[in-house]
Amino acid sequence: MSDVWVACLLPVMLVYLGFRLSVFDKDVIRSIWLDLWSLSNLGATTNIDSRNDPFSIQTSLTAYSSYRALSLDELSRMRASYMSIGRTHKRIGYEIGYPKKLDKLEELIQVNAKVTDGIAAVMRRIYNQGTVSSVMLWPELRPTTKEIHIDSHSLSRIRESLKHFVRDWSNAGIVERSVIFEPILSVFSMLSAPARSQNRVLFPGSGLSRLAYEVSQLGYDVTACELSAYMNGAFRFLLDPEMTKTVNQHEIHPYAHWWSHSRNATDLFRGIRFPDVIPQLAADGTAGLHLKEGNFLELDVTNSSANSTSRTTEGYDFVVTLFFIDTSVNIIHTLEHIHRLLKPGGTWVNLGPLLWCSSAQARLELTLEEVFNVMDVVGFSIVGGRNGNDDEEPNCMKRRTISCEYTHDDKAMMRWIYEAEFWVARKV
Ligand SMILES: C[S@@+](CC[C@H](N)C(=O)[O-])C[C@H]1O[C@@H](n2cnc3c(N)ncnc32)[C@H](O)[C@@H]1O
Repeated sequence: MSDVWVACLLPVMLVYLGFRLSVFDKDVIRSIWLDLWSLSNLGATTNIDSRNDPFSIQTSLTAYSSYRALSLDELSRMRASYMSIGRTHKRIGYEIGYPKKLDKLEELIQVNAKVTDGIAAVMRRIYNQGTVSSVMLWPELRPTTKEIHIDSHSLSRIRESLKHFVRDWSNAGIVERSVIFEPILSVFSMLSAPARSQNRVLFPGSGLSRLAYEVSQLGYDVTACELSAYMNGAFRFLLDPEMTKTVNQHEIHPYAHWWSHSRNATDLFRGIRFPDVIPQLAADGTAGLHLKEGNFLELDVTNSSANSTSRTTEGYDFVVTLFFIDTSVNIIHTLEHIHRLLKPGGTWVNLGPLLWCSSAQARLELTLEEVFNVMDVVGFSIVGGRNGNDDEEPNCMKRRTISCEYTHDDKAMMRWIYEAEFWVARKV
C-alpha cells in the first residue's frame, strides 16, 4: 500500500473508530453530514429554473393549451369504464341518464376550454413579446426544443386555477373570501387614508391576487409576487383588456370534473360567471397594484422600491402571507426572507394553516409553537403576544384562530375546514 493511500485512509479510520466507540457525539456528526449535504445542494434551493419547472411559463402554457385534449382523454377513460360494466348494469346506467352525464361533461369541457385557450393566447402574446419582462424574476419564454412534460398533475393545476377564479373573482366566492380577508383588511384599515400610498405592501404567493387588489383599493402601494405561471397566466387573462372587457363576461364549470360528494347533476355542472370586478395594474412609479412574477426568495429590498416614487428607506412596510408559509421548502428561509424584506419596525400579517407541502418535499415540518420559536430567533414579535391576550393591543391585531375553507365547493357533500392561525408580527 502506497504512503498516499495510508495518509488518506488513516483519518477516515480514526473518525470511524471514534464514531463506533462513541468518542464523538453522534448528533454532532449527523449535523456535520447534513451541513455538507445541504452545501452540495445549495444550488438546488435557489435555482428556480430546475426546481420549479412544473410551474414555469413553458410548462403551464403547454398545459393550458392541452386542457381540452387532456380532459377529453380523461373522459374517454370514464366512458370506457362505463362500457366495461355488464350489459344489465349498463342498461340501468342508461335509464338513470349516466351516458347523458358523460355527454354533458364533454360539452362543459368545451366551455371551460374557451377560458383555458384564452389564458394560453394571452400568455403566448405577452411572454413572447417580452412586454412584461421588467416584472419577471425568471427567464422569459424562449423557443425550446426540450419536450414539455404534461400529465395529470398539470390538469389538476389548471383545475385549481379555475377554482381560484371562483374564490377570488366571482360573486360565488364572497362568503369564503370575507372570512379570510376581513381580519387582514381590518389591520390595513387602521392607518389613516392619506398615509397609505406611502406604505409598500408585499404579498408573496399571491395566487390570483384578489386580496392584494383589495389592499391596493384601500390606497396602499401593493406588490403581488407569484411563482406559479399557472396563476400568473390566469391573472393576466383578467388583466388583459382584449380578453376581459366586462364584468361577468366569462363562464366556467369548475366542479364538473370531480364527481365525488355531489348531490345532483345540477350542482355538479353549475356554471360560475366571473370576474365580479375587473382588476388593473398601476403604472410604474405610481401607488397601486403591481405584479412581480417569480420566486419571492429572489426579491431583494433594492428591487422592492421599483414600483413607486419618493422612496428613501428601502424595504416593505408590510408583508402579507395568506395560505402561504406552509408551501415553503424551508420555512426558516421563508421567515428570514420576510424579515429581510421588511423595513425596521415593519409589519408581517399572516393567515393560514400549516399544511406542509411543496412541489418539492418540505424540508422542515414545524408545529405552530415551533414556528413561533423560529420567529423569536429570526427577530419577530407577535402583536398582542403569542396567546393574543395582551389587553394593550386592539382586538383586530391580536393572534387568533380562524375557521375557514379554501376554494371549496359550497354545494358538495363534504367540507374541509382549516383552523387557520392569524397573527400580526413586528420586525424587531
Ligand atoms: C396555497 S397558495 C395560496 C395563494 C394565495 N395566497 C391565496 O390565498 O389564494 C400558495 C401560493 O404560493 C405560491 N408560492 C409558493 N412558493 C412561492 C415563492 N417562493 N414565491 C412566490 N410564490 C410562491 C404558489 O405558487 C401558490 O400560488
